[in-house]
Amino acid sequence: MSGKVVIFNHPLIHHKLSLIRNENTNTKDFRQTVSEIGGLMAYEVTRDLKTIEVEVKTPIAIARTKQLANDVVLVPILRAGLGMIEGIMNLIPTAKVGHVGLYRDEETLEIHTYYAKFPDIISKSTVMIVDPMLATGGSLIKAIDLVKATGAKDIIYVGLVGAPEGVNRVVEAHPDVSIFLAALDEKLNEKGYIVPGLGDCGDRLFGTK
Ligand code: PRP
Ligand code: URA
Repeated sequence: MSGKVVIFNHPLIHHKLSLIRNENTNTKDFRQTVSEIGGLMAYEVTRDLKTIEVEVKTPIAIARTKQLANDVVLVPILRAGLGMIEGIMNLIPTAKVGHVGLYRDEETLEIHTYYAKFPDIISKSTVMIVDPMLATGGSLIKAIDLVKATGAKDIIYVGLVGAPEGVNRVVEAHPDVSIFLAALDEKLNEKGYIVPGLGDCGDRLFGTK
């Protein structure tokens, strides 16, 4: 199955993105707004989830209704992916959570894996990889490789800001994975940062710089 690339166009998301892009936004507001955008995106991202017909006994009669067919596993890429998880979990409270720890070497932009732990059910679940920034695409490609190694096949990615270079690399490496972004920016700079972007998302979320 081939994936799709969706760039959101919604007034609330535009408004909240302008808050987190602003260099004067403090850590508390940045963290809260990243989480809120995650929640807003989750509603639309889950539109294609498969459902099954079930019968439920109401106090009055039997209702034929629908439930999600598969479990959902969220996989935030540490650190910055954690910032979107609470907002998404508000919509999908039954989701299980796996974690992938990756960092980019600041000089070479090479990706290093320092942690990977997934729920047992991941191979049969819909997996949502979460990371606010899609820059060179190296981190996301690595995360998808790790998730696919579990046997999982139904994989989507949710992020905030992407660069065209990174999106193209991911589509080429993993054409079956759908990509959902709040914004597609202009380009990468010579240090691999997204322009105009919002800076280093992990540092801004956790106040490390
Ligand atoms: C950032 C971001 C992504 C990655 C994107 O993480 O959260 O994971 O860079 O860049 P790429 O598309 O070029 O791979 P970073 O490596 O800074 O780690 P951190 O979240 O721990 O700060
Ligand atoms: N990671 C970030 O946090 N920001 C960028 O612009 C690129 C990678």
